[in-house]
Amino acid sequence: MCGIFAYLNFDVPRERRFILELLFNGLRRLEYRGYDSSGISIDSDHRPPTSKSLSLRTPPPLVFREEGKIEKLVTNVYQEAYQSELDLELCFSNHAGIAHTRWATHGLPSPRNSHPQSSGAGNDFLVVHNGIITNYMVLKETLLRHGFEFESETDTEVIPKLAKFVHDRLSEEAADVSFTQVVMEVMRQLEGAYALIFKSPHYPNELVSCKRGSPLLLGVKDTGEEYAKADAFEADLTTANGIKKPKEIFLASDAAAVVEHTKRVMVIEDNEVVHIKDGNISIFKFDSDKARKPGGLSRPASVQRALSLLELEVEQIKKGNYEHYMEKEIFEQPESLTTTMRGRLIRGGESKLKSVVLGGLKDHLRTMRRSRRIIFIGCGTSYNAALAARPIIEELSGVPVTMELASDLLDRQGPIYREDTAVFVSQSGETADTLQALEYANSHGALCVGITNTVGSAIARGTHCGVHINAGCEIGVASTKAYTSQIAVMTMLALALGDDSMSSRNRREEIVDGLFDLPNKVKEVLKLDKDMKELAKLLTEEQSLLIFGRGYNYATALEGALKVKEVALMHSEGILAGEMKHGPLALVDETLPIIVIATRDATFRQALRPCFLLLTYSRSYALIPDSKQQSVIQQLRARKGRLIVICTKGDAEAVCPYGVSRVIEVPRVEDCLQPVINIVPLQLLAYHLTVLRGYNVDQPRNLAKSVTTQ
Ligand code: F6R
Repeated sequence: MCGIFAYLNFDVPRERRFILELLFNGLRRLEYRGYDSSGISIDSDHRPPTSKSLSLRTPPPLVFREEGKIEKLVTNVYQEAYQSELDLELCFSNHAGIAHTRWATHGLPSPRNSHPQSSGAGNDFLVVHNGIITNYMVLKETLLRHGFEFESETDTEVIPKLAKFVHDRLSEEAADVSFTQVVMEVMRQLEGAYALIFKSPHYPNELVSCKRGSPLLLGVKDTGEEYAKADAFEADLTTANGIKKPKEIFLASDAAAVVEHTKRVMVIEDNEVVHIKDGNISIFKFDSDKARKPGGLSRPASVQRALSLLELEVEQIKKGNYEHYMEKEIFEQPESLTTTMRGRLIRGGESKLKSVVLGGLKDHLRTMRRSRRIIFIGCGTSYNAALAARPIIEELSGVPVTMELASDLLDRQGPIYREDTAVFVSQSGETADTLQALEYANSHGALCVGITNTVGSAIARGTHCGVHINAGCEIGVASTKAYTSQIAVMTMLALALGDDSMSSRNRREEIVDGLFDLPNKVKEVLKLDKDMKELAKLLTEEQSLLIFGRGYNYATALEGALKVKEVALMHSEGILAGEMKHGPLALVDETLPIIVIATRDATFRQALRPCFLLLTYSRSYALIPDSKQQSVIQQLRARKGRLIVICTKGDAEAVCPYGVSRVIEVPRVEDCLQPVINIVPLQLLAYHLTVLRGYNVDQPRNLAKSVTTQ
């Protein structure tokens, strides 16, 4: 939900074209966070004034903003550069540029609502922002009264204007007001969530950045070479603040924009203010309670922070041979699942049981087992993954499991107790609703557990313990590989919770075996790609698609429908099959396509049924599938429903004895792992439908990857 990016070079000559390209590239990497509009700011041609000049202020920075995709901004910048004869070869030894890609919250996508937002004529202060300022109306009214004029409908515009207001006031009190002091005074006024980067001609080649609630990462690079060796990196950690004076510095909403430049990063914490000047990086802690004494501008004390090494490879953020990220991420699932489970499964043998090890949870499992209930909290796909894992967690732990959509929990202010365990599931680890629900659960004293894909994310840091799903960077806005890895992790959580019970030992061992084999089974189900493309061709023109599931696969129905609606922009509904007769059946006719998931699990059983043998005129008994889903299929057939059935390999005849319009056979795995297999054909269907309908697969209309606003 908006991406911010900044690049500074210090004591190393960089052409303006290089700086521009670097900023554009940063935005391309962050575009999945928002793609309504974008903008950048770089320095103008003029040299900074000498100390003898009357004003410390350098000429106004250049600002370019454009509605639409980043490539439109790129074209626009070069066109304007050409028309205004901007020297693209001009070298800057020191330079600080900022950039932004937007997912609109306040005001339509348009150049004037794009960032950087400005303090007004002269661009005294420019700001790029990810988040929402909730008290912007009050601030705006105050600033209007002080003569400021607003040009945009954004909440962000109050920030640079406030910075100018604060700067001008503080400058009346003291001669050497620092950029950090200005920003801290601005922070004192802001409510809401934000990650901000400030640029100002009053402070040439300096940037100040701060955050509260939204993510922010700092990256440093020394000489153009990566710190490939761990020992070199370790040595570097021992220096003050973990950072030698670097030649190049990056600030970004997430690692995807930084990893191609450096792996040496620092996750900026809430209420930290980063000041960068002449290659020096200082980090200050903002204390909102500490009121500023009138006339007193005490210098804030800096804090020491260490760098860490980014565990992300550049290849992970590239499409490789695939057309789209979504396609790549669907096909990556055998590998992403392997990585998720690496080092966590114990194969067993001689005296050892087959089991799992979840290092991040081992000290908390006892508390979880003794909880009054386990509450899973998430949004969208992450919620669906928890729903898929719920039955096995209940079965193996014996603890009641309840499900909460984060926004609904917050709306209701639902009860949470000290005796509860609240598990927060989030791919990005920064979803605003989930994050706020975490604060809520923390304040009620529950044990808070995080399941995220982003190391160092707000949810990972805000929980007492947790597990990283290690699915690798997910860039397609529609979550695919994170979903299957989340289910794998939560199944391992169920195994760990049930570890103290002898009665479930066999069941647990079968699941461990199933997990070992899962990547191979996913490889097998991916072979359905062609079939799913064929099916997508048949469904391209449809308006609507229903998906029925139950038991473990109720979640599959919800998740499959979510994929279809969010990328293929086709109405689709996941329905609990047990609810069919209570309303949805009214929708069924010969035109509406319906997918029924009828793979083997507890809701699928075979029964000995009497059958009439024609030749002998005698009654005999045969094993006939008698699944609840089979009766759903029969009832839908009786209403002439256009059925597509997903069933276990070899079950087609038995599940659909009278034929249906299409059968998709998938490999059989342990019942609790079947949702991992069953979602794959639906992911492929959603992908092909989107391509055939001509929509943007990786950047669906109106959506963004991380929803950092409520
Ligand atoms: C759908 C999708 C969303 C996210 C939801 C939560 O494909 O990606 O529904 O699952 O916005 O995001 P995270 O998991 O990052 O908290």
